[in-house]
Amino acid sequence: MVDARTLHESVAAWYARNARVLPWRGIDDPYAILVSEVMLQQTQVERVIPKFRAFLDAFPTLRALAGAQPADVIRVWAGMGYNGRAVRLHRLARDVMERLGGELPSTAEELRKLPGIGPYTAAAVASFAYGEPVAVLDTNIYRVLSRVVHGVEAPSRDALHPIAEELLPQAGSPITSADWHQALMDVGATLCTARQPRCMLCPLRPHCAAAPHLQSGSDPALAEASVPYAPRQSRFQGSARYFRGRIVGYLREQPDTGVDESALEAVLRDAETASGAACPVSLPDLLAALERDGLVRCEGTRVRLP
Ligand code: ADE
Repeated sequence: MVDARTLHESVAAWYARNARVLPWRGIDDPYAILVSEVMLQQTQVERVIPKFRAFLDAFPTLRALAGAQPADVIRVWAGMGYNGRAVRLHRLARDVMERLGGELPSTAEELRKLPGIGPYTAAAVASFAYGEPVAVLDTNIYRVLSRVVHGVEAPSRDALHPIAEELLPQAGSPITSADWHQALMDVGATLCTARQPRCMLCPLRPHCAAAPHLQSGSDPALAEASVPYAPRQSRFQGSARYFRGRIVGYLREQPDTGVDESALEAVLRDAETASGAACPVSLPDLLAALERDGLVRCEGTRVRLP
C-alpha cells in the first residue's frame, strides 16, 4: 500500500502551485457548492463557470431558489443540458425550505437523504462546504487513485472506496481533506487524463503503480487501461434526449402562457432537418416524458414551462 503521508505531501506541494482558479473554490456556502456540484455532474468545467455565476446571480440563496417559478429556473439553466437537474435542484430547495428551515444538512449521510442527491454529490458538499473527511469519488479522482494504487487494472468504484477512505488526510496532514479532493480533481483533469496521461508532470508519479506502464504513449496497455475510465458518449444528436432538449429550448423563448402543440410539431421537424435524424418517438410521447420530469406542463393542446 502506498504511504499516505508522502502522497499528501506531494499533492499539497503541487496544488499550492497549480490549483485551477474556479469560482466554487475558496467559498464555504453549502448552497453555492451544491449548485456547482450538480452543474459539474454532467457538464464540462469551462461551460459551467459562467453558468454557475449566472445561476447564483438569479438565485443567490436557497430561499431565493425555492421561491422561484420552475419555468424561471429552467430558463436560467439554458446551455447546460440535462435540464432535469434544474427541476430536481429546485425541488430540493423547496424541500429543504419546508422541512429543514432552509438549512442544508452538514454530513454526507444526512445530505444523501435529500431527494435527488446521490452519494457523490452528498460527499462533495459535505467535504467542500463542511470539511467532513469523507471520500469523494468522481470520475477523475477514481481514475487517479485507481492508477496510483492498482496500476493499469481498474477496480470497480465500490472496490476503490475503502482505499480512498484510507488515503483521506487526517488531522495534522499537510493538506485538508477538501483540498485533497480538489487537487486530485485537478490532477485528473489536467495530467492524469484517460487517454493521454502526462506522467512526467504528475506529483503522484513516484508513488504510482500505473506510471511505468503509461509513460510511454505508445504502450498498448494505455489504450486498454483507458477503456474503463472513458466510456464513449452515446450519440446525442438524433436521440430522444436531443429532441426533448429542442422542445424545452423552444419553450424557454416563449411567453409563460406557452404555445399550441402544433407549433412543437414544427420545432421537431426543424430539429430533424438540423440533425439529419428522424425523431425516434412521437411528440405526445416526448411531451409525456417531459411532463413526468417536471419540465413542461400540458393543458389541453397548450404546452408551457411549469
Ligand atoms: N468536477 C466535479 N466537482 C468538481 C469541482 N469541485 N472542481 C472541479 N471539477 C469538478
